[in-house]
Amino acid sequence: MKVMLVNGSPHKNGTTNAALGVVAEQLGKEGVESEIFWVGAKPISGCIGCMACAKLGRCVIEGDRVNEFVELAEKADGFIFGTPTHYAADAGHITSFMHRAFYSNFRGRSGSALRLKPAAAVAVARRAGAVPAFDQLNRMFTICEMPIVSSRYWNIAFGHNGEELMQDAEGLWTLRALARNMAFFLKCIEAGKKLGVTPPAQEEPVFTNFIR
Ligand SMILES: Cc1cc2nc3c(=O)[nH]c(=O)nc-3n(C[C@H](O)[C@H](O)[C@H](O)COP(=O)(O)O)c2cc1C
Repeated sequence: MKVMLVNGSPHKNGTTNAALGVVAEQLGKEGVESEIFWVGAKPISGCIGCMACAKLGRCVIEGDRVNEFVELAEKADGFIFGTPTHYAADAGHITSFMHRAFYSNFRGRSGSALRLKPAAAVAVARRAGAVPAFDQLNRMFTICEMPIVSSRYWNIAFGHNGEELMQDAEGLWTLRALARNMAFFLKCIEAGKKLGVTPPAQEEPVFTNFIR
């Protein structure tokens, strides 16, 4: 069982990375492997809506880590996406990254890398606006049939850097509970597979524009 922990900050070793490190440590204690995947600090293009992914099975835009993530995601069992709060919303990097990763996976691979795999969001902030950032990430999961794993509070933690985050005792408590719950649900899914529970069938998509 492996969880991909996506650091959606342009800071490789910043606050988001520290928060994901807390989750990783707790996952390890629960016997679940994890890996932090950093989206990088170079500019990440948003989705240009060209629909090439429907034919190619991958995003047509190269030069960043979006396609690499989707390849790795095929083998992952669960996901935690972390973002710093930027203007009371998700950082631009993770927003563009997830739009292209999720859209190309949905259009090009029928969602195979993400569908029915548990996911959770973590947002860090210096002071305020982490809840809307957390909400924004969660909306990505519910459009992709990804069950959301929750904690005992919204998954937010505070600090301007990793050192400060480690002083947010309640934030750390929330992150550890999240990791335990993620491990629990992954084990439930594993047990279900062993008992022969299979994913539900998918209907052909119905795609109507609002006007018709
Ligand atoms: C462009 C920008 C916008 C920010 N907006 C907010 C904000 O709305 N609320 C807040 O509390 N912190 C805000 N911050 C601070 C970061 O969320 C905070 O420093 C966080 O710990 C950085 O995490 P990182 O090191 O993983 O990037 C902002 C930082 C930047 C660069």
